[in-house]
Amino acid sequence: MTVLECRDMSEESPVSPLESSGLNEHPKRLVRSAIEYHWDPAAIDVRADQEAVSELSRVEFTRLRGLLAQFGAGERAVTTDLAPLAVVLDGSDEQRYIATQLYDEARHTELFDRYWKRVIRPEEESRGLIPTEPMADRWSHDDYRELFDRTSNAMARLLERDTSETRARAFCHYHLTVEGILAQTAYRWVETRYSGELEAVPELPGLVNGFRYLRRDEGRHVSFGVTKVRKLVDKGVDPETIVETIDELVPLVETTIDQMVRDGSIGADRNGILNRIDTARDRRLEQVGVVPSKRT
Ligand SMILES: [Fe+2]
Ligand SMILES: [Fe+2]
Repeated sequence: MTVLECRDMSEESPVSPLESSGLNEHPKRLVRSAIEYHWDPAAIDVRADQEAVSELSRVEFTRLRGLLAQFGAGERAVTTDLAPLAVVLDGSDEQRYIATQLYDEARHTELFDRYWKRVIRPEEESRGLIPTEPMADRWSHDDYRELFDRTSNAMARLLERDTSETRARAFCHYHLTVEGILAQTAYRWVETRYSGELEAVPELPGLVNGFRYLRRDEGRHVSFGVTKVRKLVDKGVDPETIVETIDELVPLVETTIDQMVRDGSIGADRNGILNRIDTARDRRLEQVGVVPSKRT
């Protein structure tokens, strides 16, 4: 088996928190899984993508650039934002787990940087466009920035006041919403969109391959956050805190994803995607032991 062959590409991590024989053993199992499912962005072949992007219409090429720039910025932000958790978490298993997640997030940033350099930039040049940087302002919008600013603040708050409640809020922002709702929904949509199933959108096999690896890593991260929040609720954190924190963020996720799929997007089932956000929200709440009431 090569490093790029996968034995499990499911949405959730192969290590399910709900089926764990013991919640305390969970970080250790996630570390083992991270090591076993290692992958390298540089080993992903993007030669077919370099050819295929030339078939994208001007609008679709701009959409692809916007998606990759936003996802790359998101991965860059979460790599930095995770550091406070590495400071406050105790126990060698949890610290080892966070080390694997920091590495995963850095690897995700590398994947997007590499794709921009190898696929996007040469295509911009061949179309005679002014080359853009993925971090340029034109690729981000207010709600997306707001979502990541709030997440960054919730993580930084841990260094000022480390309580069960601030931890629960941090995990709700980072692991349950940004990773567990936004990334899982948007990454799956991108994977489907460029898989060759849509007549009007060419297949981008390198991109799809990369997103499969990303989603598997993210499933592991969500699994860690779910287990942590579930323990905090068991220890007395008010379930209403969990619901409120997530529900304050979901509208920002909706506008972010809506922006990605609209504007005459070919093959975008907009209502279906928005429903998937609700389903992901309910699923996260169920996983942490909170009965999901309807969002108000
Ligand atoms: Fe990531
Ligand atoms: Fe992640």
